[in-house]
Amino acid sequence: MFFENRLSGGNTMSCASCHMHQYAWTDLEPLSPGEDGKRQTRRTPPLQDVGWNSLFGRDGRFESLEGFILGPIANENEMN
Ligand code: HEC
Repeated sequence: MFFENRLSGGNTMSCASCHMHQYAWTDLEPLSPGEDGKRQTRRTPPLQDVGWNSLFGRDGRFESLEGFILGPIANENEMN
């Protein structure tokens, strides 16, 4: 599902649009564009070994990986 474009509103983006395997699951953008073309407000972090973290998000506001990952799917400025 990480590579599934149908998770986005316009069927054009997956998690891997920003978290690209060839760049340790980040990208080369200072701020990645969402499906609407607008830039994110934070840089896309790498996801290498993220399963070992205890807090998620740049500010650590999520305590579980499962709690975090529905955010980008629902966010209209990300996968919409
Ligand atoms: C539009 C670009 C974009 C897309 C698409 C995207 N992400 Fe992210 N991701 C980000 C950004 C930016 C952050 C940092 C957000 C924050 O800290 O508020 C992030 C953070 C994360 C984190 C937290 C990493 C950490 O070190 O705490 C995880 C996990 C994650 N994304 C997984 C996913 C998954 C799974 C999907 C698909 C369902 C996804 N992302 C889709 C840009 C994206």
